[in-house]
Amino acid sequence: MSTRKEPTDLLEEELQELRHEQAALPSHNLKDEDFDDEDNADDDDDDHDYNEDGGHDDDYDDDGDDYDDDGDARNAGKAGRHNGWVPPGADNQGGDEDVFGTDLDEHFYIPRRLEDKCASLVEAVNDFHFAMLNDSQRNDFYRQALARQVKPGDVVLEIGTGSGLLAMLAASAGAKHVYTIEANRHLAALARKIIRANNLQDKITVINKLSTNVHVGHDFPERCDVLVSEILGTLLLGESALQFVADARRRLLKKDAAIIPRAGRQFISLVQSNELRQITSVQKWEGFDLHEFNALQDTVSLVFTKQYGFRFSSVKHDLLVAKQQVCDVDFTRDGPGSLGEEVIIPIVAEADGTVDAVLTYWEAYGDKDEQLVMSTEPEATKDNFARDMQWGQALQLVEDLDNEGDEPKPFVVSKGERIDLIVRFSEDSAVMQFALSRPQHAA
Ligand SMILES: C[S@@+](CC[C@H](N)C(=O)[O-])C[C@H]1O[C@@H](n2cnc3c(N)ncnc32)[C@H](O)[C@@H]1O
Repeated sequence: MSTRKEPTDLLEEELQELRHEQAALPSHNLKDEDFDDEDNADDDDDDHDYNEDGGHDDDYDDDGDDYDDDGDARNAGKAGRHNGWVPPGADNQGGDEDVFGTDLDEHFYIPRRLEDKCASLVEAVNDFHFAMLNDSQRNDFYRQALARQVKPGDVVLEIGTGSGLLAMLAASAGAKHVYTIEANRHLAALARKIIRANNLQDKITVINKLSTNVHVGHDFPERCDVLVSEILGTLLLGESALQFVADARRRLLKKDAAIIPRAGRQFISLVQSNELRQITSVQKWEGFDLHEFNALQDTVSLVFTKQYGFRFSSVKHDLLVAKQQVCDVDFTRDGPGSLGEEVIIPIVAEADGTVDAVLTYWEAYGDKDEQLVMSTEPEATKDNFARDMQWGQALQLVEDLDNEGDEPKPFVVSKGERIDLIVRFSEDSAVMQFALSRPQHAA
């Protein structure tokens, strides 16, 4: 069985190693959002010479990037515990210690096809890749965006090929060539197989690396015209799209390259729900008073609807604040840190009630005028089971922190009341945490 788990932090020493590696890379300052005109294909490092043979064949291999994988992509959720995230199954230098099935009893059978795969990869694929690939509206969003953006002669770059589907859509949209990057070697190998089976091997090159280790002049001859990626999480930026896209923009793309998706917005609603309350707190059962058990209620972390095991649209609820934007991301311009550390957004309650949770969802836009929209809002995904099963939404339970005590106190609002929504972003902007406060209490 595969469930979306919270990401586990990298062990401190692995993190140190990762930071050390990143610091050692030639042009890898992910915080630097400015496009460096000097740093283009012509003057890229001499020691990363483009290999004529390598350019259009599909024999790239993992060069031993020393990244470890931890946590599940669409599961990044614990506020403030996100920095250093890499995709699940990103190749290790020292081989796969995280082998699938090692935690099963010895007499349990594992098919040979899975024996050499790493557990976090198998988990991620079964957790969301299949649902994602069957989210037909998602695939169509990318097909339409690519059809609008790819011009004859364009070279397209993709971050994160998975099965190779978007790379094939880009080739079908008329790209001269597609370079598609994949951090996991098994996925890269499968994508090559699939691309060959679809007779697109002359148009698409799969590069088995983490995108931050790819270099112009070594992996492909010049900066690319279009970037496409689908590294959006249950939280818009949960799969570190801001870091990876900003890095690609700075080092791997032409100055006015088209970027798909071009932008995105994270939204929240404030919800009241007895059904949600029933599975996240307790009051009494028959004559027994149990409310003190709520002392352990988690009002700190974002939890994914998949983890609760429901589609939010199937849970009875009232919207006390219907839809509020909490951040606006422009992938053609923004980078890690663009969102700052904290914002306070004044909002007005639209009905009387108790705010049980902050519900989060997002929209991503495939074109400049935002006609092409992909959304995870519960209403928009009602008829899209696959989307709810791959992304779903995230929820953070709410307590009245202006009246903090041994147990969480309900945050009760009246229609028309002004409240402050405090949004805290993790250092890399990938994860957020929410709090509600009455204006007189806000610092
Ligand atoms: C959510 S899947 C999308 C796959 C495919 N693009 C699609 O849309 O069907 C993301 C894939 O990108 C890979 N990935 C994520 N970030 C990456 C990065 N920075 N460099 C290389 N691969 C990455 C993951 O291993 C995963 O296979």
